[in-house]
Amino acid sequence: MSMLLQRLAAYLGHSQAALELKWMSAFAETSKQSLSELVDRRLKDEPLQYILGSQPFGALNLIVRPPVLIPRPETEDWTIRLSKTITPSPKHPISILDLCTGSGCIPLLLCHLWPQGSVRAYGVDVSTDAVELATENAARHDIPSGTDGLRNSFKAQQGNVLDPAFPKSVEPPFDVLSANPPYIPWKEYLDLPPSVLRYEDPRALFGGPSGLEFYHAIAGMVSRPGFLKTDAVVALEVGHEQAEKVEDILLDVGAIQRTEIWNDPWGKARTVLGWRT
Ligand SMILES: C[S@@+](CC[C@H](N)C(=O)[O-])C[C@H]1O[C@@H](n2cnc3c(N)ncnc32)[C@H](O)[C@@H]1O
Repeated sequence: MSMLLQRLAAYLGHSQAALELKWMSAFAETSKQSLSELVDRRLKDEPLQYILGSQPFGALNLIVRPPVLIPRPETEDWTIRLSKTITPSPKHPISILDLCTGSGCIPLLLCHLWPQGSVRAYGVDVSTDAVELATENAARHDIPSGTDGLRNSFKAQQGNVLDPAFPKSVEPPFDVLSANPPYIPWKEYLDLPPSVLRYEDPRALFGGPSGLEFYHAIAGMVSRPGFLKTDAVVALEVGHEQAEKVEDILLDVGAIQRTEIWNDPWGKARTVLGWRT
């Protein structure tokens, strides 16, 4: 054990290594892999979450596996804030479309936090790995894919947000459109840590040369007649120095009348909210 700790400490520093070794050692007891094999994987830059196979997200404990993006704490933070900003109820149920849904983290946490019978959630992702994982995560948290009106539901499906025919495969109008789309511009991609570059899907990260490609597509989508309800809300996670540009993109298409920027707990402008009224 102390040899493994030394190897890991050279990579992570002593206190982080001690913590991670404790978690990996608990996991090794029920895993087919030995603790030493798990440590070897970590020393090859594999994210701890992929090794342990799970990541807490609010009260949920999501399954995670490569190459689907590991949900980040900043996304968890604004999802919880969104759950307090909009207050659906069984008397006033809403529908939500989560684009680029990945593990399903955003709509699944909202389904968990909002009262039962108050939301029908849909998630779309281009990656079939993501659609499968989001579906498994819904099942793990006992969130049904079909709605009986009594319980919150979530259904994931494959779709390409950048395809102009995309809206045909979903059923508008929606009360809420949420997304944490790929937003890393080309020039920042190579500066990402090796744990991200080697293990997470590049499609989950690239947002086109400027990083803004998906926001333009989403703005075009929400400006189509009948896509959003009259008092709908749009919530979009954004990257470094993108918040004001994304506000402009949303306001320019005319479907959104008012915007607001939310900072993350580390003080970075992280989410752009847009209201139709
Ligand atoms: C930044 S990740 C976000 C995943 C998840 N929502 C989260 O917050 O952890 C972006 C997601 O967009 C998906 N994606 C990439 N290109 C897409 C496209 N053209 N249409 C739909 N989804 C796409 C990726 O597969 C990835 O799951």
